[in-house]
Amino acid sequence: VDIATRVAEILDRHRGTEGALLPILHEVQAQFGYVPEEVLPQIAQDQNISKAEAYGVMTFYHDFRSKPAGQHVLKLCRAESCKTMGADQLAAAAREKLGIDWHETTPDGKITLEPIFCLGLCACGPAALVDGKVVGRVDEAKLEQIVKGMR
Ligand code: FES
Repeated sequence: VDIATRVAEILDRHRGTEGALLPILHEVQAQFGYVPEEVLPQIAQDQNISKAEAYGVMTFYHDFRSKPAGQHVLKLCRAESCKTMGADQLAAAAREKLGIDWHETTPDGKITLEPIFCLGLCACGPAALVDGKVVGRVDEAKLEQIVKGMR
């Protein structure tokens, strides 16, 4: 089954629902692992919005990725409480260590680095989501371990 057909099925499931754009994008990402750019016109047309609007919504929410992720996904909290606990320095260390920026994947396809905004673990910042698992008090030594484990 091609992508357009699978997306059409998703759109059909949300037929008649108000404000279905986000659930649709979530379902597309759940099925494909990302939201392929070529599906945006199809979604936009279905939802009666422009392709630019669909794209705008997709990029506004940091949950959606436009490219497939690597084998592992490391998300670092970028919200206020974690920032006061050193999240900025940690993020800089992670980008340098991995040699990539946000939303990028290491050239070996192993690790994708993504920002996330509050994991509800503010008291134990800086927080991270390591392949879906919440980890608190991530300092550079812990980061080193996490990255080692992913490689
Ligand atoms: Fe980072 Fe809440 S601000 S977990």
